[in-house]
Amino acid sequence: GSLEEAVYPLFYGWFLTHKSQSHTNEKGKKFLKTLGELDEFKEHWDDFGEAASETGINLEEYFERKGILHCTTKYSDYGKVKGAQEYTELEAVKKFYSSAFCLQISGFFITPRTAGARVRLTDKQLELWPAGSEKEAMPSEELPHGSRAHITLGCAKDVEPKQTGLDLLEFVKLEKEGQQGLAEKDIDQGKLRYFGKGMWMLELYEKVTVKTVFGGFYP
Ligand code: A2P
Repeated sequence: GSLEEAVYPLFYGWFLTHKSQSHTNEKGKKFLKTLGELDEFKEHWDDFGEAASETGINLEEYFERKGILHCTTKYSDYGKVKGAQEYTELEAVKKFYSSAFCLQISGFFITPRTAGARVRLTDKQLELWPAGSEKEAMPSEELPHGSRAHITLGCAKDVEPKQTGLDLLEFVKLEKEGQQGLAEKDIDQGKLRYFGKGMWMLELYEKVTVKTVFGGFYP
């Protein structure tokens, strides 16, 4: 009715159920542990600067967890961000608000700044992905719609979670340029690639499916 006014959230996204959060954290930890013990990784400890001691680096301690696991679609800052109001009015956003979705995690990655899970969205899920999200992050590139989709697993000290999506787009850009990585190795969970500067991407053999609910976050 006319008295209703939209209440904008801090951000919109898919929120993982309790069980899927545990599952994802376990898989993520396994990746960090395996990676941390690899000789190939040890050759590049330097990428992590002072955090790497003579005995190496504990990745599980290096990345700090941040709140409930989720895949942000639109950061809105309570309606203050450009495009936030338009996003709220999208048919798909209204239609799917509070709906359950299964998201597919296709990989895990780390950089000296962030640790994240790469999310591959379906066509239906892409209806909830805001136009221009990739362009806004990387104005000089033409990266696929939805290629920024991720779940932040942790951030290095003093790094904001927003950085995870930007880091993922760096990988996407390198892949688009046809780079196969400076090193490649098959490990238990999948194919691991090193792109230099502390950038490691694991492409999972078995994708991880997580249960989520789409909605807004109002802390
Ligand atoms: P991400 O989605 O990469 O995890 P904060 O706690 O900083 O307010 O952020 C809340 C959520 O919104 C986080 O999940 C964060 O990153 C995401 N986020 C924050 N700022 C932005 C932004 N400018 N663009 C896109 N996502 C953002």
